[in-house]
Amino acid sequence: MNLRLKERFGKKFDEEIRFFKGWRSNMKAVGAITPTSSIAARRMASVIDTGSGLPVLELGPGTGVITKAILDHGVAPEQLVSVEYSSDFYNQLLKRFPTVEFINGDAFNLGTTLGRRASDQFDCVICAVPLLTIPMHRRVALIEDLLTRVPVGRPVVQISYGPRSPVANMPDRFRTEQLDFIMRNIPPARLWIYRKTH
Ligand SMILES: C[S@@+](CC[C@H](N)C(=O)[O-])C[C@H]1O[C@@H](n2cnc3c(N)ncnc32)[C@H](O)[C@@H]1O
Repeated sequence: MNLRLKERFGKKFDEEIRFFKGWRSNMKAVGAITPTSSIAARRMASVIDTGSGLPVLELGPGTGVITKAILDHGVAPEQLVSVEYSSDFYNQLLKRFPTVEFINGDAFNLGTTLGRRASDQFDCVICAVPLLTIPMHRRVALIEDLLTRVPVGRPVVQISYGPRSPVANMPDRFRTEQLDFIMRNIPPARLWIYRKTH
């Protein structure tokens, strides 16, 4: 195996170990059994409009697979705000992406968590926080809160492992559509988009 391949697999293995430790300490909050695949991460990041001039909000970065895809898509690190609940993941993320603005806090309480950023508008939201274990009214409240933080028509993207959107379509409040179905993710994942209708 050449050096670059060894480095790549070494890094991937490190990510999996870190993820497994996070999963063991809080299965409900981590919500998946392995890190997001780079294919799913790239597809989520593909919705970002780098020409908007607005920062991007990421929720539940975990080991940073999606964070990396967001940066690779062309978002400057200073234009990314990323909220992670687990202090272990948060501390690792600070080391791996020192110029990204990580916040160690709760995505369900963004008014407080975002601090000085609480009234900022973002180009879009990229969310990997597990929703299926959360009561429906809290899921809807989260999506509605996120939609106040992006311009009308811009997306909130959510990764989820069930057959249906974790939040039902509410045409009078927001539109739900499936962005993609990613087989090459463990488990296979659906990517959902929510947009304000007016
Ligand atoms: C499915 S994992 C994300 C996996 C990540 N994409 C990766 O590949 O490592 C869910 C992440 O959301 C975080 N999380 C769960 N509840 C959260 C909350 N209320 N606020 C912020 N992050 C949360 C978990 O700690 C975990 O890092």
